[in-house]
Parts: sequence; C-alpha cells; structure tokens
Amino acid sequence: MKRRIFSLELILALVALVGIMAVGVGQAMGEGDEDGGKIIFTKPVKAVVFDHANHLAQGLDCESCHDEIFQMETGSAEAGDDFTMASLYEGKYCGACHDGETAFASNTRCTVCHIGVKGYNKETSTGTEEKKGHE
Ligand code: HEC
Ligand code: HEC
Ligand code: HEC
Repeated sequence: MKRRIFSLELILALVALVGIMAVGVGQAMGEGDEDGGKIIFTKPVKAVVFDHANHLAQGLDCESCHDEIFQMETGSAEAGDDFTMASLYEGKYCGACHDGETAFASNTRCTVCHIGVKGYNKETSTGTEEKKGHE
C-alpha cells in the first residue's frame, strides 16, 4: 500500500518534470524566431531608428525583408558604403517600401526615421559615454 502511493507520486513527479522540460525545449526552439527588436543605425549618420515590432504590426512577415532586402544581422547594411538616401530613393533597403506607396516616402518625414543624436542617447541611455567622443 505504502509502496503503491510512493510510485504514484513518482509517476506524477516524472510527468511534471517532463512537462517542465518540454516547455524549456519549446522556449529554446522559439528563440530562433525572435525578431531583431529595435535597431538604431549610426552609420553614416547618427541616428536612424528601425523598430521590428512596429513593422510586424503592419502585417509584414520576416520574408518581406529577410534576406533579400536585409540580412538578419545588425550591421550588415551599415557595413556597405551604399546605405544612403540615394540608395533609398532608388528603392534599395528601406526604400523598397518607403517609396510613398507601400509606406511613407523616404524623401518625406525625415525625423520619423532620423531620431538624431538626442534620440539616440534617449534610446540607448549612453549619453554620458558619447560626450567623451570627438563627434
Ligand atoms: C520591414 C523589414 C523587416 C522585417 C519585416 C523583419 N526584419 Fe529583421 N531586420 C530588419 C533590419 C533592417 C535589420 C537590420 C539589418 C542590418 O543592420 O543590416 C534586421 C535584423 C534582424 C535580426 C538581427 C538582429 C541582431 O541583433 O543582429 C534578426 C534576428 C531579425 N532581423 C529577425 C527578424 C524576424 C524573425 C522577422 C520576422 C518575425 C523579421 N526580422 C522581420 C528588417 C526587418
Ligand atoms: C517591407 C516594407 C518595409 C521596409 C523594407 C521598411 N519599412 Fe518602415 N514601414 C513600413 C510600413 C508599411 C510602415 C507603416 C506605414 C506608414 O507609416 O507609411 C512603416 C513605418 C515605419 C516607421 C514609422 C513607425 C515607427 O516605427 O516609428 C519608421 C520610423 C520606419 N518605417 C522606418 C524604416 C526604416 C529605417 C527602414 C529601413 C531600415 C524601414 N522602415 C524599412 C514598411 C517597411
Ligand atoms: C524611411 C526612413 C528614412 C527617412 C524617411 C529618411 N531617411 Fe535619411 N537615412 C535613412 C537610413 C536608413 C540611412 C542610413 C543609416 C544611417 O545613416 O544611420 C539614412 C541616411 C541619411 C543621410 C546620410 C547618408 C546620405 O545619404 O548622405 C542623410 C544626410 C539623410 N539620411 C538625410 C535625410 C533627410 C534630409 C530626410 C528627409 C528628406 C531623410 N533622410 C529621410 C532612413 C531614412
């Protein structure tokens, strides 16, 4: 009798453990699907904001941008020397959508994308660090 209760408890404990592990594995697997959050570009000018959440809320999916327009790696676009307004006006990078049809045009509403140095400091809270620079 006592033994039987013990094994029942053991089984329940095992079931609970397997459940917890399954949740853990699920979370670990889900991590690959996480979007890139808020990205702040600083090259060539400081600073331009791109927010994944706001774009996904527009009904865009990952394939709308990755990997044809943007790599899933922050810094890829900035690494090239053509991450400029001229490229955007030609329909590259953000300009693929920010053309006045799919989304507001790249030659309008500058400050919606360009948050400036103040905006950068606000988003990153590294204002004091930045002041040490020579910019
Ligand atoms: C509207 C365009 C757009 C959409 C839609 C989009 N992304 Fe991105 N994503 C970007 C841009 C821009 C970057 C930065 C690329 C760069 O710096 O060259 C980026 C970067 C990333 C990064 C790298 C982040 C890092 O810290 O290096 C990941 C991961 C990522 N995206 C995942 C996703 C996933 C997952 C989805 C779908 C849920 C998604 N993205 C949808 C534009 C987009
Ligand atoms: C796949 C299409 C697509 C691409 C690529 C894209 N956007 Fe957008 N973006 C949209 C749409 C759609 C909206 C919402 C409609 C509107 O405001 O005209 C939007 C809105 C925005 C907004 C206003 C909302 C907010 O987040 O504050 C900003 C800023 C913005 N985009 C910046 C960028 C930047 C910077 C890039 C390039 C790094 C970029 N977008 C690339 C489609 C895109
Ligand atoms: C859809 C978002 C978006 C809008 C709107 C936008 N820009 Fe930009 N801009 C960018 C991105 C992205 C870069 C490259 C990343 C960086 O410099 O941080 C950039 C870079 C620049 C640069 C440096 C590169 C170059 O082309 O010389 C200047 C200057 C600039 N923008 C001016 C403007 C002005 C002026 C406006 C309004 C007429 C404007 N931008 C509107 C996203 C935008």
